[in-house]
Amino acid sequence: MIWGSDYAFPISYHRAMLEDTQRIELYKKAIESTVQDKVVIDVGAGTGILSLYAVQAGAKKIYALEKDFETYNFIHGLVQKSTIVGKTIEFINTSSFDFSIEPFDIPQVLISELIGAVGPEEGIVEAFFDLKTKNPSLASFIPHTIDICCDIFYSDFVENEFQNNYTIYSRNLPYFKNEETLFGDMYAQKFLFHNFMEETAVSDQQILKTYSLGIDQISDFKVEIKVPEHANTIAVFFKAYLDVNNTVTLTNCPGSSLHWLTPYLRKPYKKERVTIEYRSKNKFFFVHWD
Ligand SMILES: C[S@@+](CC[C@H](N)C(=O)[O-])C[C@H]1O[C@@H](n2cnc3c(N)ncnc32)[C@H](O)[C@@H]1O
Repeated sequence: MIWGSDYAFPISYHRAMLEDTQRIELYKKAIESTVQDKVVIDVGAGTGILSLYAVQAGAKKIYALEKDFETYNFIHGLVQKSTIVGKTIEFINTSSFDFSIEPFDIPQVLISELIGAVGPEEGIVEAFFDLKTKNPSLASFIPHTIDICCDIFYSDFVENEFQNNYTIYSRNLPYFKNEETLFGDMYAQKFLFHNFMEETAVSDQQILKTYSLGIDQISDFKVEIKVPEHANTIAVFFKAYLDVNNTVTLTNCPGSSLHWLTPYLRKPYKKERVTIEYRSKNKFFFVHWD
């Protein structure tokens, strides 16, 4: 007997996104002001929540693209039975990269929440560029721009977490004793996640990279950041601009309450600059400290 299966609708993954009321409300606001009487493509439709908002906001037709078969299979069945959405949403099991639209339907609006915790990891830059190239009629993008930002500060939480981790490793593995520097170097190579609700200290925010969606072709980036002596934390996060006036902004900056949390790196001893490189081909972040 099989007790579980990866081939099932991912309940907790979509639950986290549905529970994130800030995310939902911001998308709803941007969709309401954009889609009336328009033909819309929703890339990575998932549960169909953004498509549903487009229906409620008076969209003419929505192509809801979902590449995961189990998600498609479950939600498509529900959408078909629903009298709320009627025939306005067409749920399609496809990757956006394999999708071409009926020639008589000219899509005008592209909506999506393919946003990773740092920003580009879910492929929004490449997906929007591909769809815009195939459908030049697309004129509105939600979001239209994503900034990758960083914030540099000192955090007691980060230091305590590091010390707790080191204590557990060195208590259980004798060869870790007196190797705190080595442990710190390894620790600094990986993004960790926290909401930084407790942070009140002065911070130093910078934009590392800006993506114009539908225009930029590839999300690869490489940046070098100088980290001052007094800081121990580099938080790296996104700001997604959802409406044309830039009044609706979604961000997982330190202190925000989105489900993504804020990715951060802890500065190792005696290091003063970090290079962060993102390689879209394998969705990989390469972190190097000097
Ligand atoms: C972050 S979830 C967003 C779900 C939903 N739009 C929402 O806002 O709650 C992303 C979904 O997009 C799907 N997906 C990712 N890349 C895709 C692509 N290029 N084409 C179609 N679906 C994609 C994933 O399988 C996943 O279900």
